[in-house]
Amino acid sequence: MAQTPPLRAALALTPLFFFFTFFLFTGAVVGWRPWPSQKPNATDFFFGGSKKYEGSSEFVHLKYHMGPVLTSNITVYPIWYGIWKKSQKRIIREFISSFSNVDSKPPSVSGWWKTVRLYTDQTGANISRNVHIGAEKNDRFYSHGKSLTRLSVQSVIKSAVTATTRPLPINPKSGVYLLLTSDNVYVQDFCNNVCGFHYFTFPAIVGYTLPYAWVGNSAKLCPGVCAYPFAVPEYIPGLKAVKSPNDDIGVDGMISVIGHEIAELSTNPLVNAWYAGQDPVFPVEIADLCEGIYGTGGGGSYTGQMLNSKDGATYNMNGIRRRFLVQWVWNPMVNYCTGPNALD
Ligand SMILES: *[C@@H]1O[C@H](CO)[C@@H](O)[C@H](O)[C@H]1NC(C)=O
Ligand SMILES: *[C@@H]1O[C@H](CO)[C@@H](O)[C@H](O)[C@H]1NC(C)=O
Ligand SMILES: *[C@@H]1O[C@H](CO)[C@@H](O)[C@H](O)[C@H]1NC(C)=O
Repeated sequence: MAQTPPLRAALALTPLFFFFTFFLFTGAVVGWRPWPSQKPNATDFFFGGSKKYEGSSEFVHLKYHMGPVLTSNITVYPIWYGIWKKSQKRIIREFISSFSNVDSKPPSVSGWWKTVRLYTDQTGANISRNVHIGAEKNDRFYSHGKSLTRLSVQSVIKSAVTATTRPLPINPKSGVYLLLTSDNVYVQDFCNNVCGFHYFTFPAIVGYTLPYAWVGNSAKLCPGVCAYPFAVPEYIPGLKAVKSPNDDIGVDGMISVIGHEIAELSTNPLVNAWYAGQDPVFPVEIADLCEGIYGTGGGGSYTGQMLNSKDGATYNMNGIRRRFLVQWVWNPMVNYCTGPNALD
């Protein structure tokens, strides 16, 4: 079962090879969009005829590849790149703080995180139940411009951890460096079916191997792709957007992507732990398997059953002071996608 991804070997080689490997890796590894899967035949494959449970498939072989997962208290370090309103920061902070808030009314964000906690490392230690927000960094003046590449994303993180005033702490073991870009910032491949990704920084660039994720605010660039179903793609006639729970289409759309990326990063921080697929260059991770599924019956182009609040907003879970719409994740015990709002 134990498979040594070429990545490991590559890491020991020269920086040149290292960069080469990096470019090979930057494709499908980490991209994601909330719009239901339109990959050729993916729908048939995962959600075909005799579907009993969301995303269930005897063909999905999620495997553990012996690498580390985040088992100690997780600290998320937000890096706010560009212009962010206080109200927007608050929505995102409260979402992340909701992961370990067991007091929220069910269906809750902490109920959703429970599925992620089912994953373990070699010693049998589970993903941590505790997720909290640590130090934050503002990068208001676009230190690396308004158009970032996958490499310059690493440089932004480097700036945050090496800043002369209040640098972010170095926490390779349980830190999640979360780069959030405002709606006027383009990141390589953004909107082209990519709404966020996670990876780890390279010592050659940042000085450390730090797990990080990027999620962008798509409100101006492509809400129909990355803030679906709060906005819909123009090319699909007759499809209607639903009302977002926190009155901010861009940020409400980011919430599910942030959940997706933190769930995957926690179970596969160095891309050598939990993923499906034969090819470690294109791992399919625990949230990729449930792309676009928010409730019972979800799959294909249907989101599944969601909930409606009194003000008409659509959501599927409760958190601290708010409601959120977050996609489900793959449950390794039952081998299908599960979420706290599942109907019996
Ligand atoms: C999808 O699957 C069908 C039959 O299984 C096949 O005929 C078709 O070519 C496939 N489409 C693509 C785009 O691969
Ligand atoms: C982990 O977090 C919990 C809850 O916040 C706290 O009680 C505990 O002391 C923390 N453990 C460590 C090792 O920091
Ligand atoms: C830890 O993971 C194991 C294996 O998936 C699971 O049986 C157990 O319920 C998990 N524990 C928690 C607290 O989630």
